[in-house]
Amino acid sequence: MEERNRIMELRALLHKYNQLYYVQNSPVISDYEFDTLMRELSDLELKHPELYDSNSPTQRVGSDLSKGFEQSKHQYPMLSLDNTYSEQEVREWFQRVRTGLGDEEFEICCELKYDGLSISLIYEDGKLVKAVTRGDGVQGDVVTDNVRTIRCIPLVLEPGTYPKSFEIRGEVLMPWTSFERLNAERELNEEPLFANPRNAASGTLKLQNPAIVSKRQLDSYLYYLLGDGLPEDGHYENMMAAASWGFKVSDHMKKCSSIEQVMDYIAYWDVERRNLPVATDGIVLKVNSLRQQSELGFKAKSPRWAIAYKFQAERQLTRLESVSFQVGRTGAVTPVANLEPVQLSGTVVKRATLHNADIIEGLDLHIGDMVYVEKGGEIIPKITEVDFGSRSMLIGDKVRFIETCPECGARLIRYQGEAAHYCPNSSSCPPQIKGRIEHFVSRKAMNIDGLGPETIDLFYQAGLIKDIADIYALGARDIARMERLGEKSASNIIKGIEKSKQIPFERVLFAIGIRFVGETVAKILARALGSMDAIRNASMETLVGIDEIGAKIAGSIVSFFAQPANSELVDRLAAIGLKMEMESGNDTGGNALDGKGIVISGVFEHHSRDEYKALIESNGGRNVSSISAQTSFILAGDNMGPAKREKAQKLGIPLVSELEFLKMIGLEPKENTKTNNELLLPF
Ligand code: IVH
Repeated sequence: MEERNRIMELRALLHKYNQLYYVQNSPVISDYEFDTLMRELSDLELKHPELYDSNSPTQRVGSDLSKGFEQSKHQYPMLSLDNTYSEQEVREWFQRVRTGLGDEEFEICCELKYDGLSISLIYEDGKLVKAVTRGDGVQGDVVTDNVRTIRCIPLVLEPGTYPKSFEIRGEVLMPWTSFERLNAERELNEEPLFANPRNAASGTLKLQNPAIVSKRQLDSYLYYLLGDGLPEDGHYENMMAAASWGFKVSDHMKKCSSIEQVMDYIAYWDVERRNLPVATDGIVLKVNSLRQQSELGFKAKSPRWAIAYKFQAERQLTRLESVSFQVGRTGAVTPVANLEPVQLSGTVVKRATLHNADIIEGLDLHIGDMVYVEKGGEIIPKITEVDFGSRSMLIGDKVRFIETCPECGARLIRYQGEAAHYCPNSSSCPPQIKGRIEHFVSRKAMNIDGLGPETIDLFYQAGLIKDIADIYALGARDIARMERLGEKSASNIIKGIEKSKQIPFERVLFAIGIRFVGETVAKILARALGSMDAIRNASMETLVGIDEIGAKIAGSIVSFFAQPANSELVDRLAAIGLKMEMESGNDTGGNALDGKGIVISGVFEHHSRDEYKALIESNGGRNVSSISAQTSFILAGDNMGPAKREKAQKLGIPLVSELEFLKMIGLEPKENTKTNNELLLPF
């Protein structure tokens, strides 16, 4: 009976964790814990066949299907691999392979297990025709346009003996450097951070805007070739052939013929993987010969010819000393654990994020507890577990989320459906005020040099600036009088403040710090509506009618301007002389496309798609992703899809050729000078 209850409990838990992982892209437990729970459930279900349930989390691979993408069925289901954290189980698998092959000789291809999301690429006649995510293993989301922006994925293959039609699978990844840059940017905009590069890659590939995907600089490694008529019997050899056709294949694959060699490979990469530019979470071992693979065959969800050995994420036990609560510029309150310093993956960890009230509650944390901290794939360490065994009689206070703001005392609020608590006192809570000023002067906003957080704090303490508009009332004498600031820095600050009056409108819009209006959204809004007044007066309906603007962003804009203090602040900034509207043709181009919504479709000869997007925007137009009655025209290249052509015809939207378009904006056609990987068609 106890085991029955445990099965039910595990199923419910794993369903919840699956949902958090696959749908919300925000895992709350480590892979190790997840796998351990899954293993426990699977063992119990084996013991209790009478409790079989086709909906049990053990019966399906997780699903990453999302709304908004067309779905496509995989020709061969996308299975997962059996996982183990134990070297002993690797040895047992090796032995099973040996027995399964009737003691015939075999080789094992050892590879890194890349930690991203799997992708299936379909090539026909040497050209990429479709890219599909794993989805639920049977069918996935068609993300071809996004995948085309990944520079290392060839759109057209190098000449070679590839089959006429084949599929290649691999992993889409976000390199550590891109991940850190993206999270730093999100932190600045107070957007939720991605927990690890895998979630960032998955979130990025599911965006509806390939231009943003392109900026995020995803990477990819291919590791599995499928189809009839592959060149070789060896998996390793086929991957080398794939590399010669232009695919990015790992340099670290190795063929081994004994279990000792396999173990050496595992031991080497457990350490060396830390020096790789992308995240890995284990080693994949595959029987190399395709003939032997098919002899061994598949189980229900995974092949018998392969296994994944997963690295244990490094974790350490340390003491929780206290919990502090930080207030950000939007009022979001983040709980932070202060820990007894401990060495973890090469750095000393003193603090870890506790994310939100639910996570604190789920951990059942008490001050003084011994806790496990883990970095795993994550940049910010987190507490994964309390060591209940070491809790003494003198148990400390239970950690509870605070009810009032630690900075200004206001009662905190929690919006429906959100995990975070907020301090609503935006007008007089000091870290919110200082945070908004720091954001306003930051490089990507008004770019006022010399006003770092400490200087802002000095001015704020002295009562000289209470909001962003006060910056413009600062005089050289005020500044020079401040402790630690000499005349030279004072005059630099004054120059920076003056210069900021020339910053274009879209950056002013970003700088005023409307929640969810980051750099890209500010650009979209500025181009669509043209001026601060138009944005201030726009209804929800108008705002959500703009490509890429959803209800969350629109709601935030409307409620920002509904507050009289914000509206007055914007009026003061306008009176000071900041730019409050778009200047037509202010970029590199002119205004030949003013107000036009343009869809790009097909393959081009003279510029890449990204370049055309930039050209549309710099000439006053808007690049929109789908055809509607509002579309002004379609910039049509070769091979425009028949569905799009038909829709355009139905709605009477004109098609404009590449050359006509270039003429429209007064540009000469360029000779074969595309800058990204949109290779020219081979004729
Ligand atoms: S082979 C039938 N090779 O791990 C097995 N997978 O749980 C096909 N992965 O979904 C997969 N690196 O996303 C293979 N070198 C590698 C891999 C790899 C990462 C991922 C892949 C797969 C998961 C298996």
